[in-house]
Amino acid sequence: MPQIAQDNALDSSLAFYREGYEFFRHRHRQFHTDIFQAKLLGKTYNCVFGEDAARMFYEPDRFTRQGALPSSTLKLLQDEGSVAVLDAEAHAQRKQMFLSLMTPERLRLFAQLASEVLLDAAADQRSQNGGVINLDQALRGVLCDAACRWIDIRLERSELQRLTGELGAMIDNAGTIGPANWTARIRRWHSEQLLRHQVERVRAGSLAPRGGSGLEIIASHREPDGQLLAPEICAVELLNVLRPIVAISRFMTFAALALHQHSAAHAQLRCDDAFLEPFVQEVRRLTPFFPVVAGIAREDFGWRDYRFGKGDRFALDLYGTNRDPRAWDDPEAFRPERFIGWRGNAFTMIPQGGGDFVGHRCAGEWLTIAVMTSLMCTLVRKIEYELPEQDLTVDLSRIPAAPKSGFVIDVKSLH
Ligand code: HEM
Repeated sequence: MPQIAQDNALDSSLAFYREGYEFFRHRHRQFHTDIFQAKLLGKTYNCVFGEDAARMFYEPDRFTRQGALPSSTLKLLQDEGSVAVLDAEAHAQRKQMFLSLMTPERLRLFAQLASEVLLDAAADQRSQNGGVINLDQALRGVLCDAACRWIDIRLERSELQRLTGELGAMIDNAGTIGPANWTARIRRWHSEQLLRHQVERVRAGSLAPRGGSGLEIIASHREPDGQLLAPEICAVELLNVLRPIVAISRFMTFAALALHQHSAAHAQLRCDDAFLEPFVQEVRRLTPFFPVVAGIAREDFGWRDYRFGKGDRFALDLYGTNRDPRAWDDPEAFRPERFIGWRGNAFTMIPQGGGDFVGHRCAGEWLTIAVMTSLMCTLVRKIEYELPEQDLTVDLSRIPAAPKSGFVIDVKSLH
């Protein structure tokens, strides 16, 4: 069996924190291979990238996500007991609950809601603050408001603002350790209590959510043994809808940055509906967002000439795979045209994971594309804005990355 290249450091965690998204690419280039081993937080990971590695990683039921991520990350993202850490049958049944939320009508409804809320928020902001908006922050509020209406969680304005802040803290701190991470976990606890209370009220009959809404579907979901989901797990899964919807603000911030940097594409988007989705796809491909997904082998298996054992850890580099020159011409260039007539590939375009949706691939990918397409249309065609002086550099050692200024716009008029 050939030797797997080794990152020499005793533990590479510090290098990962320093290099961020580029950590894996640096070493894949250095070793001229799709696989190397590195110790991260004391555990050895097989770090892989590229289409072939993604096919290996997304082989059905090959990996469990249980124990694969540090708990500082897991507890702020999907959390214990959630769909993400289930395997096999239990996973399939819970995943179906999420996928049942994603019908074309529901996606259209959400996309439309989000655009309406964005226009209202821009109008409010203009009347109160003269139009200067931090887009990243404002979109979090817009998406949280739209998501709560969509899943039928009814909150007072102050509760909505608090929830938006708590969800934002989970997103911003998923890659941190220490006090910032602990504070975000305490804030998360409040969101969980709020959502758990909603579920308990539904079950007690004192709250009647819209039929087919997220709250109704999750509160009435049954486990394979026929039992209702425990209220605290319902709260975790409601958060697994709300939090990533709010995180779409980050993709949108990078979309706005791309508009600013590519004036020809901006002009085309004003009049060409068919260009909206390719633009959104190119933004998703290039945005530094989820750096990797991790898994632990459930059984022994072989890949290429290597043999791996049950319990071996893997990290698939999403960021690097989306920019792999073997799959993408001129991969660093922002070229939405590459997605015109694109036939799809679940192993080369993996900003939200890959493979089949019945596996662990992101349940919200269709929703993400639908809402980004709608919000882009609104931003480009209905909101006239200028960019004040600001620092738009992106630090790739920060996970998740963002333009330094958060992308501030000065809204001049609304159409
Ligand atoms: C901001 C954009 C988003 C990004 C970058 C993103 C990314 C991801 C990634 C990388 C995974 C892990 C895939 C794996 O383990 O192989 C995932 C899983 C998941 N995502 Fe998303 N996601 C986004 C939006 C959403 C939305 C909008 C929803 C729901 C409305 C959602 C719900 C989920 C769920 C439930 C899972 C767990 C799926 C499973 O384990 O079967 N995500 N997402």
